[in-house]
Amino acid sequence: MKTAVIALAFGVALAGPLAAQIMTAEDGDAERGADLAAESCAQCHDITQDGEFKTYPPSFASIGAYRSDDQIFSRIYFPQMHTAMPEMGWYLDRQGIADLVAYIRSVEITVD
Ligand code: HEC
Repeated sequence: MKTAVIALAFGVALAGPLAAQIMTAEDGDAERGADLAAESCAQCHDITQDGEFKTYPPSFASIGAYRSDDQIFSRIYFPQMHTAMPEMGWYLDRQGIADLVAYIRSVEITVD
């Protein structure tokens, strides 16, 4: 019982702050996100409207199609380790990341 309480408290302590910080496309400005993307992401990602699928790194058009807002937000904030995706959490503020999520949503393509 005591262990469960401690585990729960620990889980809340870890999940709480991140969950509270996640912002969605609705909080962002896609036009500002487009500027940020051109500046900081385009050297690696295809950030265009009709970006191709199955590229590495993935195009923004395909990320939009496959990921939810909170997944996109967290992957910009905390990228997969040991990949070329740089950590952006120290450099972009939460509003900037929300702007990028809004931009990625705006270039998303439909998968049929
Ligand atoms: C130095 C190259 C580089 C730059 C610059 C870069 N990325 Fe990435 N990004 C990558 C790579 C490589 C991956 C694939 C990581 C993996 O294997 O999961 C990735 C993955 C991602 C993912 C997760 C995709 C998925 O699997 O769902 C998102 C979201 C993302 N990048 C957004 C951005 C944004 C937004 C920027 C600009 C602020 C940016 N990236 C800048 C290289 C880069």
